[in-house]
Amino acid sequence: MDYQFLKVEQPQEGVTLLKISAPKSLNALNSTILKELDAFIDNIGSGTRVLIITGDGEKSFVAGADISEMANLNEQEGYAFGRLGDKVFRKIETLPIPVIAAVNGFALGGGCELAMACDIRICSDNAKFGQPEVGLGITPGFSGTVRLPRLVGQGMAKEMIYTGRVIRADEALRIGLVNAVYPREELLEKALEMAAKMVANAPLAICACKESINRGCDLTMDEAIELENKLFAGCFATADQKEGMAAFLGKRKAAFTGK
Ligand code: CAA
Repeated sequence: MDYQFLKVEQPQEGVTLLKISAPKSLNALNSTILKELDAFIDNIGSGTRVLIITGDGEKSFVAGADISEMANLNEQEGYAFGRLGDKVFRKIETLPIPVIAAVNGFALGGGCELAMACDIRICSDNAKFGQPEVGLGITPGFSGTVRLPRLVGQGMAKEMIYTGRVIRADEALRIGLVNAVYPREELLEKALEMAAKMVANAPLAICACKESINRGCDLTMDEAIELENKLFAGCFATADQKEGMAAFLGKRKAAFTGK
């Protein structure tokens, strides 16, 4: 499929690299990009075992939602725009494969929100994160007030959101918004290394882990434990469980098929 604002690459077996590419606006998300992202997610094939999302260019991951598009929206249109972003980001969050955000520069507003919809965030040393929306007279729109407190705690999320303060990579690491910071030139290589480790493991088991963590965090402790046990049990009906354990006992490397 051809996209105006997305670049799609297959850098290594099982890994798809998606670059958001709108150089004139530092990759700000307009509704066309959101619709392209939606179509891209709907069309991800089974060959993709890990998705890496990054920004095209050297300066920005995504500098937010497109302010020039939002400037003249009325309430109804604002609702529709927010809903579109929410829908696409939730699809990313619930994809049955790991999604890594390789944040290579500005991740502001909708950019921080896109990164937070991914499973894991790593960033370059020039990355900057923030939720500057209240300075534009709006709230974070693509679930930023929902995901940020879940990731960094309410106090830090409220400070970032109420002040609009932009934080650097080292602070993002300290508050747990990102897992690791790398020199800019090494970021993609590090993302690919992480992805390769995931690709070597059993895909159905990873998918079950993702479901257990994502859904389990919104359940009571007892409900979450029960959910995990169902998913754990389900693994024993897979060929990958037989293969993984036979490989261990046979002192060889497992060859998973995702079945
Ligand atoms: N929307 C539209 N255009 C944007 C944009 C955005 N979010 N961010 C940057 N641009 C455009 C600029 O207008 C500029 O365009 P022109 O060359 O035509 O003037 C171009 O990208 C380059 O930007 P700058 O010249 O400003 O670059 P800089 O290096 O001086 O500053 C920046 C970079 C700090 C990221 C600055 O561009 C900026 O503050 N951008 C806006 C960030 C922002 O507020 N994001 C939140 C948007 S609201 C939102 O996201 C709502 C939501 O939650 C859904």
